[in-house]
Amino acid sequence: MSVTVLVGSQWGDEGKGKIVDILSEKFKIVARYQGGANAGHTVEIGDKKYVLHLIPSGILREDVTCVIGNGVVIDPVALLEEIELLEKNNIKVDGRLFISHNAHLIMPYHKLLDSISESGAVKIGTTGRGIGPCYIDKYARKGIRIVDLLNRKKLEEKIRENLKEKNALVKKVFDHEELNVDDIINQYVEFDKKIEKYIKDTPTFLNEKIDEGESVLLEGAQGALLDVDHGTYPFVTSSSPTSGGACTGTGIPPTRINSVVGIVKAYVTRVGYGPFPTELLDADGEKLRQDGFEFGATTGRPRRCGWYDAFLERYSAMINGIDSVAITKLDVLSGFEKIKVCVGYELNGNALKSFPSDVDTLDHVVPVYETLDGWNTDISSCLSYESLPVKAKEYLNFIAKKSKIKIDIISVGPKREQTFFVKGI
Ligand code: GDP
Ligand code: IMO
Ligand code: MG
Repeated sequence: MSVTVLVGSQWGDEGKGKIVDILSEKFKIVARYQGGANAGHTVEIGDKKYVLHLIPSGILREDVTCVIGNGVVIDPVALLEEIELLEKNNIKVDGRLFISHNAHLIMPYHKLLDSISESGAVKIGTTGRGIGPCYIDKYARKGIRIVDLLNRKKLEEKIRENLKEKNALVKKVFDHEELNVDDIINQYVEFDKKIEKYIKDTPTFLNEKIDEGESVLLEGAQGALLDVDHGTYPFVTSSSPTSGGACTGTGIPPTRINSVVGIVKAYVTRVGYGPFPTELLDADGEKLRQDGFEFGATTGRPRRCGWYDAFLERYSAMINGIDSVAITKLDVLSGFEKIKVCVGYELNGNALKSFPSDVDTLDHVVPVYETLDGWNTDISSCLSYESLPVKAKEYLNFIAKKSKIKIDIISVGPKREQTFFVKGI
């Protein structure tokens, strides 16, 4: 049985939630490996629309078990809200969701620091969910973990210790009102009752299940270009969305991973600040935003939109080791008379050989475009490659060739049924 990693290959919001839902029909377990409630993964089934922030999108298939891995940072308030919402929709979570004992907890001071540090010189445009400050504490070895919820005395000590430092920072550096220690303690000591039943040694659980021959899908959040190491630093998130992060974030070793699926939007979007070479600030960008309903699933912010970038995708495929790709939102390109595809970058008139690793260079690159003919037909009910307009097929073949990717899945709408498999374009 297989262990597959599913990664966002651009700047997030590629449609990972939808494709996890499609693929999880064939998997027994779906596990998230990084990020937190900064993610917003949308799945549309019938007339219902679910936006999942922390719980893997596999939860919507009743025979799938879900795991929140050790690499994820968990806001207990957001988690309990999400569980409640699912249960209200008759989706059973109890017994189907396990949370790593080693995952770190997002605390109220993480969220506060996330928002007030955005008032500094470098604005990232974070989601404000406390992600960066929580990972800072994890790596500074000051973090509070899920397992700490099970020892109230130790939890209280840890919160008091952290608050001493955080309140000094909040007051002295940011000139902001301090947080009340007792309020936070009173709130957090109560979480054990509600969360204990989900806590598990998930690395052992996952490896034992793989030993038993069960298949596991590892669901990435965000996207490769938001990776703290390989993305457009500092305009990144604070975790490792690339496929390598799936190993550390779950405890499944690289020798047990069989394949990597990349989720690729048929154009590119980005939320927040940072370089975006193919960004469109004109009517074409607005058409993509409106037709693709490009508004953040977590914050509601309008997403920045631009043409497909094959140069970026080649880099992403390399860093992630992508074996096959799902192309999403192809339907959104319908109605463009001409569609541009970026096939390379130039800097001072010279073609770059590889994707630049620093944002100053990226800010100055000039995308090299090739222009393709569009198609004027609605393709949202096409359910096979053969039924697509010739120009749409040409577009797919062109981006596959220029990005050096193999396309196995095509998505032409947000719903489950608006998806079909192809034999490797
Ligand atoms: P994720 O974060 O990668 O899971 O993606 P989001 O859920 O944030 O954003 C993707 C959006 O596009 C959601 O609203 C999906 O319902 C929608 N979507 C996914 N695939 C398609 C598609 O093929 N066509 C269209 N029109 N919408 C899609
Ligand atoms: P999914 O999983 C798109 C972006 C934020 C910001 C940067 C850092 O739905 O694809 P953070 O709050 O993580 O510290 O913000 O990363 N960002 C996302 N953009 N999709 C996401 O998740 C994102 N999660 C974070 O907009 O630019
Ligand atoms: Mg999203």
